[in-house]
Parts: sequence; C-alpha cells; structure tokens
Amino acid sequence: MRKLICRDTIHKRVQEIGAQISDHYQNRPFTCLIILKGSTVFAADLIRAITSEFMDIDFIRLSSYCGTHSTGKVEMLMGELEKFRGRELLVVEDIVDTGTTLSFFLEKLNEIKPASIKICSLLEKKEINKGRVKIDFLGFDIKNEFVIGYGLDMNERFRNLPDIMVYEG
Ligand code: IMP
Repeated sequence: MRKLICRDTIHKRVQEIGAQISDHYQNRPFTCLIILKGSTVFAADLIRAITSEFMDIDFIRLSSYCGTHSTGKVEMLMGELEKFRGRELLVVEDIVDTGTTLSFFLEKLNEIKPASIKICSLLEKKEINKGRVKIDFLGFDIKNEFVIGYGLDMNERFRNLPDIMVYEG
C-alpha cells in the first residue's frame, strides 16, 4: 500500500467543497443524496462543512464493483426515488471511474424529474471517465490506480483507513 492523499489534505479540500456547495445553494432547500457505502466517510465530513440550514440527507445503495474491477453492470440495491420529484438534489459519490455507476443512476433520477441535479465526488479518474459524467464539485483528480481508505474498499476491507492509499495487492 502507498499513501496517495493524506488526511490533512483531504480535510482541507472537504472544507473547500463544503463552502462551494453552501455558496451554490444559499438558502434554497436541497437533499444531499449519499451513495452507499463508499461515500459514507466523505459524506459525514462533507455535510458538516456545509453551512446550509435547509439541507436534508438521504441514502441510496448502488454497486458495480467486484474486487478491483468494474463488472459493467450496476445494481440499485436500495432506495425509493419517487420522493425526490421536484427536489434539488446533490448526489454525493466517493469516486467516478468509468462513470458507469453514475450514468445509470442519473438516467433513473432524471425520470422522476428533480428540480436540479448536481454531482459531488471526492475522487475522479479523469483519464477513464473522459467527461462522460460531469462533476460539479470535485475533490481530487487521480490516476488510473485502485485506491482504498476514507470509505473506499477492496472487497469491503480498508474503508476504515484515514488516508487514501493506492492498493498494490
Ligand atoms: P464506475 O462505475 O466505474 O465509475 O465506478 C464507480 C464505483 O466503483 C465507485 O462508487 C466505487 O464504489 C467503485 N470504485 C471505482 N474505482 C475504485 C477504486 O479505485 N477504489 C475503490 N472503489 C472504486
């Protein structure tokens, strides 16, 4: 394992993104829709960096990964989208790799016509995503390496690591 982004750097960036999000929504109500499970650690820090008094939070579980590889198929494991009709939504994701997971989810979300959808992702592998999914609030652009820690897992392990590490087997 190799350290890629240390906890202090993550903390500082999360505060900056929180400020950008607060500034964007001002006093408009919105839902922070947190994608389980990988985003939980990031989201726990992020929501406390958002100063809005009109935000609520909700969760949805999506899954497309098996070990260190994308299966290309996305399953929606939990959640009820209809309640978000007409709502301003901020989707919170841990990492955008191929963009498959979010593209699928955004298609489903658009069907129920929210008032707006913004995407916040802690990490993006830009050279893989290639602009397929547009991220409105991004933490860090990273290379095409498999990362773990700060909520990110390898077969459910390592979510508890406080820094973001490259998994090297
Ligand atoms: P995508 O559908 O290829 O964009 O992959 C997105 C999902 O795959 C993320 O929500 C993660 O759960 C998982 N994922 C992608 N890359 C990594 C990684 O480097 N480490 C851990 N999980 C990853």
